[in-house]
Amino acid sequence: MSIIYDSATGQYSLHTKNYSYIMQEREGFLLHLYWGKKTFGDCTYMFREQGRAAFSPRMENCDGFILDDIPLEYPCWGRADMRTPALEMTNPDGSVIVDLRVVGRRIVQGKQGIKGLPAIYCENENECETLVVEMLDSVSNIKVELYYCVLEDYDIITRYARIINNGEATVYIDAAASAAVDFDRIDYDVISNFGTHCRERNIERAPLNHGRFIMSSRRGASSHVHNPFLIMTSRGADEVSGDAYGFVLVYSGNFTAEIAANQFDTARAVVGLNPDGFRWELASGEEFTTPECVMSYSSVGLDTLSYNFSRVFRERLCRGKYRDVRRPVLLNSWEACYFGFDSDRLIKIGDSCAELGIELMVIDDGWFGKRNDDHSSLGDWFVNEEKMPGGIKRISDHLNAKGVKLGIWFEPEMISPNSELYRAHPDWCLHYENRPRSEGRYQLILDLTRKDVCDYIYESVAKILREGGISYVKWDFNRNMSEAGSPLLGSNKQREVEFRYYLGLYSVLERLNQEFPEVLFESCSGGGGRFDAGMLYYMPQVWTSDNSDAIERLKIQYGTSLVYPMSAMSAHVSASPNHQTAHVTPFDTRFTVALTGSFGYELDPTALSEEEQKKVRDTAALYKEIGDVLAKGRYHRLRDPHNEPCSAWCTVSEDKSVCIAGYVLTHVRLYGNNERIALRGLDPDALYKERFTGATYRGDQLMNFGLHAPTTLEFHSILWILEKID
Ligand code: DGJ
Repeated sequence: MSIIYDSATGQYSLHTKNYSYIMQEREGFLLHLYWGKKTFGDCTYMFREQGRAAFSPRMENCDGFILDDIPLEYPCWGRADMRTPALEMTNPDGSVIVDLRVVGRRIVQGKQGIKGLPAIYCENENECETLVVEMLDSVSNIKVELYYCVLEDYDIITRYARIINNGEATVYIDAAASAAVDFDRIDYDVISNFGTHCRERNIERAPLNHGRFIMSSRRGASSHVHNPFLIMTSRGADEVSGDAYGFVLVYSGNFTAEIAANQFDTARAVVGLNPDGFRWELASGEEFTTPECVMSYSSVGLDTLSYNFSRVFRERLCRGKYRDVRRPVLLNSWEACYFGFDSDRLIKIGDSCAELGIELMVIDDGWFGKRNDDHSSLGDWFVNEEKMPGGIKRISDHLNAKGVKLGIWFEPEMISPNSELYRAHPDWCLHYENRPRSEGRYQLILDLTRKDVCDYIYESVAKILREGGISYVKWDFNRNMSEAGSPLLGSNKQREVEFRYYLGLYSVLERLNQEFPEVLFESCSGGGGRFDAGMLYYMPQVWTSDNSDAIERLKIQYGTSLVYPMSAMSAHVSASPNHQTAHVTPFDTRFTVALTGSFGYELDPTALSEEEQKKVRDTAALYKEIGDVLAKGRYHRLRDPHNEPCSAWCTVSEDKSVCIAGYVLTHVRLYGNNERIALRGLDPDALYKERFTGATYRGDQLMNFGLHAPTTLEFHSILWILEKID
């Protein structure tokens, strides 16, 4: 049993394999007591009322709690807690108060899905238990159910809230977080991420200071700028030691991930929908459910925290036939020819793929409408017959006969003002009447709050897929939202548009998943602008960044690996010099870096020298051989490219029989170096043989001393494949 409620003490104990999360009911409040290494017994003593009033009122006649100084599970705005709330509402009388007290609870086996939203799932009921704490504001009759799902073996707890208006009139939700956790100290480090297009998920680490530290998005997408995850560690924690707490939101739109150190040296984390710009009208009898927040804790540093998240995301968030296997080796046409292709060129590229052992060719942007550059045609999802006489079918038939599958690019959420669709439906985009419509990359965003628009998108994609011959879809999204209005919704609901947009998008994606279970979907948003757990529910891989430079990718993939599985990160060997940075990088390094993700090529195979062709052939074959280990094995970060002149990592198979390790020197070292890479996660007593050199090592040697990395040339790399022989 992973969830225990003790009615005598009012204590709720949630136990995963390696940690406990403990709460207690007192005077109707749901208090947070503990989150850390596994702990049992009566934890009542952990709550310490210190009487630190300091201008903060007590509840009811100076006898009750100083709400501002007690650790609460789902803090609400309006009474005397003046820290960041999880829930803020406006009542019919205009009062801004929610005062929730526990009125009931239930513990159920298994885990339900969340209607309309992506969520972690269980494969059988025994994997998970769910606690639902029922809370009520007895004045407004607002009921809130707090859901805690414990995936014991995964060391994961998920949280979300369901808000039900049992009152007689309409209320407004002004903020509704998925999770809040109060900590009784502030001596933590915050590990945050920031980025931009082509430079996603850089990692920063700083001590938690007083005040609010917020990573958020109000861009209508989880975005390149901040990814919806937050990590806190004890000071000095590293990959293998110290406390690490993590929160990841399963949502693709506007979010907030906040950690604040407050006046009494306590800290509060709040993660969920971004309250800025949000307001939800909740009529009598209606309910609202927040997205899910996935939480984990490790007492042994970041490596294990990352493992917990990546494991649950790969195995219990991603779905479909590609979930547990290496993905097909693909070649994407974008950097091979951009918009400059026709059927003959694609067929030539496809023929090269067949010769080189590439399993899937993707036709990227430019096959539809009149699209010869990015100024037109989004929305016109019919084949450009001028470029592609005979349509997609001609190409898929040709390729399929040679054993190469075909993939295709869409950007279904968008509409070009210069398109047949826009001329027919100028009201189908997000907009406010009588306001200009700002274009990004010459495009507007369709209004996915509308069912007719969602149906159009669905049918446009489904029609092409129904024709057959397509095994893969790259689903792109190339701008953020502005003027995000939907006139049909009416004036009271304009602040609901962004969330309703994602409900619309998720419904389309769900339908496509159901109708086309054989198709591999890859999410993309100018690379990694929507690399989030929400999208992973529908698409098990994401184009990690439009920056395909191997050296730049080291940082991007490192940052992404903090919470997401390597199998979700698409990584391609691109041309050298690189198209974004002009870096000249050896093929082997480009391969070694791409190998860690879902693997492919982003280059023109018809322009390769014979030597390069051989390299492609050999590397495609090698990936096919070891790809399952890379997809399912445990990934370890060994060197940090943000702070060190090199990068290194290894992936170890579940049974510890194979270890694939990589090292890249990112900054030149004159006079050699003493670098050695100590591996992690091996069997200490086993003997391993390195494939390329034939050298043998014991597991403990590889982990305690490591392997010499004598490379001195900038951008050069080493790949080791170690196989257990005894
Ligand atoms: C942005 C993507 O990230 C690229 O890979 C490519 O698909 C372009 N869009 C096409 O317009």
